[in-house]
Amino acid sequence: MNRYLTNNWVNKSLLLATAIATVLSFTQCTPKQTATVSSVPNTTPQADQSKGLKDYFKDDFYMGVAVSSRSIRTDSALIIKEFNSVTAENDMKVGVIHPAENRYNWKNADDIVAFAERHHIHIRGHNLLWHKQGADWMFVGPDGKPASKELVLQRLRDHIHTVVGRYKGKMYVWDVVNEAIDDSQDPNVMYRENSPWWTTFKSPEFIEAAFRYAHEADPNAKLYYNEFNSERPVKREKIFALLKKLKADHVPIDGVGFQAHWTIGRPDADQIRKALDEVISLGLDVQFTELDMTVHENPVEVVPGKTPVDPGFTPDVEAKQIARYKMVFDIFRQYKKHIKAVTFWNVSDRGSWLDSRGGGSAGDPIPNPPVFIKAYPLLFDINNQRKKAYWAVVNN
Ligand code: XIL
Repeated sequence: MNRYLTNNWVNKSLLLATAIATVLSFTQCTPKQTATVSSVPNTTPQADQSKGLKDYFKDDFYMGVAVSSRSIRTDSALIIKEFNSVTAENDMKVGVIHPAENRYNWKNADDIVAFAERHHIHIRGHNLLWHKQGADWMFVGPDGKPASKELVLQRLRDHIHTVVGRYKGKMYVWDVVNEAIDDSQDPNVMYRENSPWWTTFKSPEFIEAAFRYAHEADPNAKLYYNEFNSERPVKREKIFALLKKLKADHVPIDGVGFQAHWTIGRPDADQIRKALDEVISLGLDVQFTELDMTVHENPVEVVPGKTPVDPGFTPDVEAKQIARYKMVFDIFRQYKKHIKAVTFWNVSDRGSWLDSRGGGSAGDPIPNPPVFIKAYPLLFDINNQRKKAYWAVVNN
């Protein structure tokens, strides 16, 4: 037996059989194996360091970033090198730009527009109607009581005409209405009802009106409806119903912004594709308007009085983030015909809006009292350097 086993020929046969079995096992699950192998992210930095995101994606879509009047100074080199589209993170929101009926704060918004024009960067307008960072004065009548629908409509029209009119021809797109759909899992509640807009109108009339006013003010700007958690099945169907209604009513809407405040664990590829397919089926374009990907799949548990345990940017979450960034950009490229821009929400992990919300994503509960936990959600690290995830998305 021993002699038999040590026989060279038998050993070779065994090796051959093992090799055949291995090949067969690969062949049997070809689709899965192929998908896994080809989706291993290549994070090798490219040799040509002069290129930025906008260059790597020049045949696909604009690459954008949310900026403030501060970040266009502190991070200007990175912004100019990497991006060819900007969104004002806060400076064009109603409460900021139009804090009182007869007062506008143009300074910050003007600075952002001037910066973008100086560097040939496209500008997205954000936003004209939202239930947050709005202007309370719009909803108060002359007698101090809730303003009538007619008065609110007139103020909305004035606001939109003034702001859109000021930047007419300078914005390639406006987020006209932001987050008007209910975020709950209840399919029977379609619109966000805890909003002064809903309280005033109790119908989607204000949504349609906002689009019509924006179109009057700048007929060439593309007009978008912008929303978060847009890939979650229940909400996706509510958004789809709203879009169908807007189309049926001939409301001038051109596209849908998927905010894309995601995590390293969600949403999955099928959910993103399904949501894209629905929007596209209506003849609408898409932009990913506020992309980030927190490393906290579940919000960090916050116990009052105790410092929360934050494991930080570990190799494990880094690997998940790299894989997921590659996955979503693979989808973006597949759908590039319908995608005009992909915009990140903030410049680098040095400062994300999520950090001051306990590191959770949009829609996650915000710890109260507030807790600072870093989210590490972007393609540039805390030193503004390119992360491995950056190379995973540009190496196609
Ligand atoms: C956020 C800003 O990033 C924060 O600085 C601000 O405190 C709150 O708003 N959806 C949107 C964005 O449409 O305007 C929000 O921006 C993030 C969620």
